Amino acid sequence: MNKFLILFRWEMQPFVIPELISCCEMFDINFQIENKEKLINQGIQTPLLWINLPDEESAIKICSRAILIRAIYKIFSDSETFETLVEDLQKKSENEISEMMSNFNSYRIDVINSGKKLTQKHTVETIRKLSFIPFEANHKTVSLKNAEVNFVLINDFFDPEQPNNTSARSIKHVYFGRQISMGQGELKASYSLTERLYIGNTTMAPQLSFLVANQALAKPGTLIYDPFCGTASILISCSHFGSYVMGSDINYKILHAMINSRSKNVKRQKINLKNNKYTQKLSADQIPNIKNTFDQYKMLDRFLDISLVDFTHNCWRKQIEFDAIVCDPPYGLREGSKQLSENKKNLSDQEPTVRSSNYFPAKQQISIPSLIRFLIIFSAQHLKINGRLVFWLPTTSHFSYKDLPRHFCFEILAYSHQNITSNLVRRLITMKKVLDFDPNNSKHYKLINDIENLNQNQMKFKIKTKSKSKSKSKSKSKSKSN
Ligand SMILES: C[S@@+](CC[C@H](N)C(=O)[O-])C[C@H]1O[C@@H](n2cnc3c(N)ncnc32)[C@H](O)[C@@H]1O
Repeated sequence: MNKFLILFRWEMQPFVIPELISCCEMFDINFQIENKEKLINQGIQTPLLWINLPDEESAIKICSRAILIRAIYKIFSDSETFETLVEDLQKKSENEISEMMSNFNSYRIDVINSGKKLTQKHTVETIRKLSFIPFEANHKTVSLKNAEVNFVLINDFFDPEQPNNTSARSIKHVYFGRQISMGQGELKASYSLTERLYIGNTTMAPQLSFLVANQALAKPGTLIYDPFCGTASILISCSHFGSYVMGSDINYKILHAMINSRSKNVKRQKINLKNNKYTQKLSADQIPNIKNTFDQYKMLDRFLDISLVDFTHNCWRKQIEFDAIVCDPPYGLREGSKQLSENKKNLSDQEPTVRSSNYFPAKQQISIPSLIRFLIIFSAQHLKINGRLVFWLPTTSHFSYKDLPRHFCFEILAYSHQNITSNLVRRLITMKKVLDFDPNNSKHYKLINDIENLNQNQMKFKIKTKSKSKSKSKSKSKSKSN
C-alpha cells in the first residue's frame, strides 16, 4: 500500500466519506483510512485525510469520479512548521531527490492555504524559499500554463474549534508533495444551471445530483430509474457517468416543459409561443425540454425515455430490474406529494368523471411516510441484488438514526446529513439491496419500523390542506372588507 493525502471540499463535509467509499467500491479499490468507523459516523474534522491505496492508478480512478475531492497528492515531506519542513527537505537523500524528479520536464509549484486566506505576496515569498530544491540542476523548467507536474505546498490552518474566526488561526501542519490528480469539482460549472436548456423550480443543483450519481454507482452499462424525475437533473448526472436512464413523474407540465421557470430559455420559449413565433424562432432541437437537454450534453444515446406515471400506482412489469433507483421525492417544500384519486370529492370542476380520451384523474395529497414506504417496497421488488436506492430526505433536527426507514431486503450504507437551517436537515440516504424480494412473504410488503408514525417533528414537510388555504383567503377577504 502507498500513502496519499486527500484534500476535500469542505462545504459538504458530512458527504465526503460516503462518496469516497462509493468511489473505491466502484473500481474495486482496496483502501485504508484511520478511524474509518468514526469518520463514517461523525464525518471528517479537517479537509485533509491520509489514505493508503494500492497505487497511483487507484488515486487517479477515485479522482475521475469524486465531486467532493479537490485533489489527491503524493507527499514527499510534512512537518509542523514551514522551517522544519524545509530542514527535512534539505536532508533528503539522492535517491529520494531522484524519485521526486522522475518522469517530467516542466513543473509548477502551487501554494494551498487550507482554512485561511493569505496574500499573493506571501505565496510568492513561500515559493522563493523553496528555490533550494534542485529543479534546475535536474534540467526541469517552470511552466505555469502547461506543467507536466504540479508540486504543492499545503499550509493547514484548519481549526474546527475556530470555525468563523479564520484570521486568528495559526498553522497546524505543512505538506510538500506532487499532485496526482484532481477531483470532478469542475462538473459544477460544466453542468451549471444557468447554461442548462431546461430547468424548473425543483431542479437540483449539479453538485448534489452528481453526489447522488456517485452513491448510486452510476457507470457505463447500468440502468437507472428516477420515479420522481421532475426536470431530470439526477438522471443527467447519472448519464454523464455512462448509465442508461429513465424517469417518470406525475406532473404533465414538468415533463412537457410547460412550467413557470426561472430558466431564461423556458421564458424565451413562452414568449415565442405567445407571439406565435415559436416555429420560426426555435428549431426542434432548441426547444427547452428534457430530451433536448440530454442532447445539449451529447448524451441522447443514454436517455431511454420519461413517462407520465403516478408512482403510487405501479405500472412496471414484474421482470424489470434496475441497477439503481435515485430520487428527490416530493415533500411539499417546493413541489407537492400527490397521487391519483378516483374520489369524486377530490375532482376539480373541469375534470370529466367519465373516462373519455381527454379524461384526467384528479390528484390528492399523500403523506410523505406513505410515499417513502412505496419507494422502498418498489425498490425491493425492482432492484438487482447489490443495487442501490439513493434518495434525499428533508428532516428536522429531531430525526435520529432509529427513525431511518428499514426493510428486510435492504442494508443502510450511508445517511449523510447537512444542516440547512436551525431546524431543516437534508439527508442523503443510500441503501443496498441484500436480499431478494419474496412475493409470498407478507413482511416484504411492509417496513420493519413504522415510519407512518413520524410526524412534522422529525420530517420536514408541508401539509397543504385546501380547507386551510380557503379559510385563510376567506379571512383575508373578510379583513379587507372590514
Ligand atoms: C422534488 S421534485 C424532483 C425534482 C427533480 N429532481 C428535478 O431535478 O427537477 C419531486 C417531483 O415528484 C413529482 N411527484 C409528486 N408526486 C408524485 C407521484 N405520486 N408520482 C410521481 N411523481 C410525483 C412532482 O411532480 C415533482 O416533479
